[in-house]
Amino acid sequence: MRTDKAHKKTETAAIVDRPIVLVGLMGAGKTTVGRRLAARLGLPFVDADAEIEKAAGRTISEIFEDFGEKEFRKGERRVIARLLRGKPLVLATGGGAYMDPKTRERVRRLAISVWLKADVKLLAKRTAKRDTRPLLRTGDPLRILEKLAAERYPVYAEADVTVESGGGPHEQVVARILDALKERTDQNGTNRKEKADDHERA
Ligand code: S3P
Repeated sequence: MRTDKAHKKTETAAIVDRPIVLVGLMGAGKTTVGRRLAARLGLPFVDADAEIEKAAGRTISEIFEDFGEKEFRKGERRVIARLLRGKPLVLATGGGAYMDPKTRERVRRLAISVWLKADVKLLAKRTAKRDTRPLLRTGDPLRILEKLAAERYPVYAEADVTVESGGGPHEQVVARILDALKERTDQNGTNRKEKADDHERA
């Protein structure tokens, strides 16, 4: 008889054979949803921002203050490249990560990307709970989020899967992602997009 764990493994292998990368604006729920999605798939969960903080020995705010956004972006690109070279995982990325062309190309080749799309007013409400995001401290957070949405949504739209991350429970968002991944599997027989030449080129 198959154990639950073995069953979960089989299901995961059928759905994903590569990292799942969550993208979207600040407050879209990438970390919370990502953690739950990873648990459902029996995969490790990693938060890219937390990895950057670990590597730098500083918080994101401190990195922005001490080195500036440009250096933060370099570190972000490096950390994500390293994580994508490893075993399958669920990776939550910071809102600006997917805007970097090199990161986007890497994600396209090596991972399945999922955009958690949400209404900007909801994002403003959610992000108001914590003061850890340097970009939202430079003016009115709602206006900043609106501007970022205008710049970024057309790029986030390149993700393999788009899922609405509204005001409902996070489990609902997880279920939507699993459905979308299964649908892709049904269509393609696999969630792989490319074949043998998938190695790192950058
Ligand atoms: C940023 C989003 C943040 C963090 C940094 C910059 C952005 O991550 O990486 O403050 O450019 O949108 P979250 O999206 O996890 O808040």
